[in-house]
Amino acid sequence: GFDEIPGRYKVRSLALAESGRHQIRLAEHEMPGLMALREEFGPTQPLAGARIAGSLHMTVQTAVLIETLTALGAEVRWASCNIFSTQDEAAAAIVVGPEGTPEDPQGVPVFAWKGESLPEYWDCTEQILVWPSEDGTVQGPNMILDDGGDATLLVHEGVAYERAGAVPADTRPGEPDHSEEANVVRAVLRRALEADPLRWTTVAESLLGVTEETTTGVHRLYQLAEQGQLLFPAINVNDSVTKSKFDNKYGIRHSLPDGINRATDILIGGKVAFVAGYGDVGKGAAEAFRGQGARVIVSEIDPICALQAAMDGYQVARLEDVVGEADFFITTTGNKDVIRTEHLVAMKDKAVVGNIGHFDNEIDMAGLAQVPGVVRTEIKPQVHEWTFTEAGPDGEAAGRSIIVLSEGRLLNLGNATGHPSFVMSNSFSNQVIGQIELFTDGAGSAAGSSQDDGARQYQREVYRLPKILDEKVARLHLDALGVRLSELTKDQADYLGIPVEGPYKADHYRY
Ligand code: NAI
Repeated sequence: GFDEIPGRYKVRSLALAESGRHQIRLAEHEMPGLMALREEFGPTQPLAGARIAGSLHMTVQTAVLIETLTALGAEVRWASCNIFSTQDEAAAAIVVGPEGTPEDPQGVPVFAWKGESLPEYWDCTEQILVWPSEDGTVQGPNMILDDGGDATLLVHEGVAYERAGAVPADTRPGEPDHSEEANVVRAVLRRALEADPLRWTTVAESLLGVTEETTTGVHRLYQLAEQGQLLFPAINVNDSVTKSKFDNKYGIRHSLPDGINRATDILIGGKVAFVAGYGDVGKGAAEAFRGQGARVIVSEIDPICALQAAMDGYQVARLEDVVGEADFFITTTGNKDVIRTEHLVAMKDKAVVGNIGHFDNEIDMAGLAQVPGVVRTEIKPQVHEWTFTEAGPDGEAAGRSIIVLSEGRLLNLGNATGHPSFVMSNSFSNQVIGQIELFTDGAGSAAGSSQDDGARQYQREVYRLPKILDEKVARLHLDALGVRLSELTKDQADYLGIPVEGPYKADHYRY
């Protein structure tokens, strides 16, 4: 069952709100960046008038982000960006709000629960992009806060169909762009088009911008911008140093073993772990396994990252050469078709397989389901044993099985609760500053300056936050860890040619 008022909210159960509120209260203590931004910007309300459509894992940490946005004046509607990542108690607490009760909810509209179907997922995404107004007309949001780019994608695809005057039609297997999910998206677009032939054009016109959380979503934005198809300005939050060099790495170092442990409780020490990809996420994953005493094997396509992995002390190999050796297989590439059927059938008995890249196409789950004689057993939600009842192509014994986590989707959010609060405070402080930047066109934040000739500073391009704001986010997290920062003397600053108060590094510096 659900608790829902159509158009207002749809969550698992508002009875979970009290537990959610306690967890939010504890998370606030671990999110000094967000709490400092509430204090700094609460009085001036820079987000007053902002209607923010948020598509990002509906966790306890995200709850603190949402209530920071509303504390700065924004109206917010929220959905999760993954079918398994919602913490139902956080969703309930946000709907109820700090002042409301389950009988009289007064909080923010949320459309999210753990274990959505794909059609439900895209319905929820549509719900955040439609703001019912008093007179019954439909309004769009004027800001998007995205993770992976699904909300942004829905608007762009909708506009493309409206401009072409075409009705999105379903495709069949073998036809271009065919996938179950793509057809679900087309069904949502079709329905919207029937209700209002210019729905998405109207929404796009009201949008001042999007702030994007993750590597994969940022990649989509740069592609749109390069093709001249980006419909509104975008801030790349992921490539703030205090995001990707912290959340992607140290966040994963915590939440990957958390997910594996909650799912399987198999000892990691002494085992062999294979990690595909040695970018920011792969670095955190490999370190987590090593920290637990596993022997780690990394694969890479980029010679620089492969060399880094080797210099960090990991074996670097191709999957096909070590597929029979590893006890754990984790994909972190943001690429597709990384672990394919031929690899899955050649793994050791009871090998654990999971993905922490943004989308579920890194592991060929559809191919696995088609292996002759394969049987899927649910051990518990988001943990499935796939048993090969027939011998493998290289004589692997019949009856062996592999354990697949979260059906090939983000396992740190599906099997556990995602990254912990402290690291998300860094990521989300960048999000809040990015929202203020785009909504006020640079006038509302510390570093920005609005142009006085009437032209907007932010155009239909992808921007990163200025380094001084990146440094500010880090600064907001030092006290909590007891860090005492050294200060430049004026003389030292002049010697290095940088200001005493920063920014301290050139934009090309890599950390
Ligand atoms: P990145 O670009 O830093 O790293 C990806 C690495 O994979 C690159 O070094 C690339 O060369 C490598 N790669 C690509 N294809 C490969 C292949 N076929 N075999 C082996 N290596 C390959 O990206 P980042 O920041 O590490 O993110 C990776 C993914 O994780 C993205 O989808 C991102 O959105 C997602 N992500 C997930 C998080 C989570 O909580 N689960 C947190 C942050 C990011």
